[in-house]
Amino acid sequence: MKKLGILLSGRGSNFEAIARNVQAGKIPAEIAIVMSNKAGALGLARAKEMGLATRFIPSQGKEREAFDREVVAVLREFQVDLVCLAGFMRILSPYFIREFPRRVLNIHPALLPSFPGEEAQRQALEYGVKFTGCTVHLVDEGVDTGPIVCQAVVPVLDDDTPETLAVRILNEEHRIYSDGICLLLEDGVRIEGRRVLPKL
Ligand code: GRF
Repeated sequence: MKKLGILLSGRGSNFEAIARNVQAGKIPAEIAIVMSNKAGALGLARAKEMGLATRFIPSQGKEREAFDREVVAVLREFQVDLVCLAGFMRILSPYFIREFPRRVLNIHPALLPSFPGEEAQRQALEYGVKFTGCTVHLVDEGVDTGPIVCQAVVPVLDDDTPETLAVRILNEEHRIYSDGICLLLEDGVRIEGRRVLPKL
């Protein structure tokens, strides 16, 4: 059975959606470890309640790579095959990426390459786009720049606020993150340049 490692910093609703799909047998893997760099992360508490292995590794005041080395050591300890960032508010060091080449996924609440970084829903509203959405992508050394695995489109409504828009995007996030994980786990993709395509 393939092993997932989840990294989060907060609420953890994407983690919970993944956990539900693992539980339901829709993702052919187990969650080996849930880690957070924030002690009070709700997602970490939920993982404990579910009986999953959890670790809190503080990031504050640490060099980026020093922190990443601690995280990678734990991922190795739990023999993680695929790392899923789920609201993990940190940029990964080149060291981390090298340790898990093409084995780190992230979910972003916009149609990349539009609106990378923080407050993507607010950025989309303020720009005035009529459609936004979410993106599952492989993580590279940039901020939300890695090859795109899957996306979902969400219309922007005239009376949307960043909060109402975020809720509808989140519903799609919860659906497509698991799809992206399955694709990567099944080894069903090849990567040509930036394009993630089905294996021939
Ligand atoms: C989500 O909007 C995700 O796209 C972004 O951070 C948020 C995390 O939410 N990367 P949650 O912690 O999964 O509820």
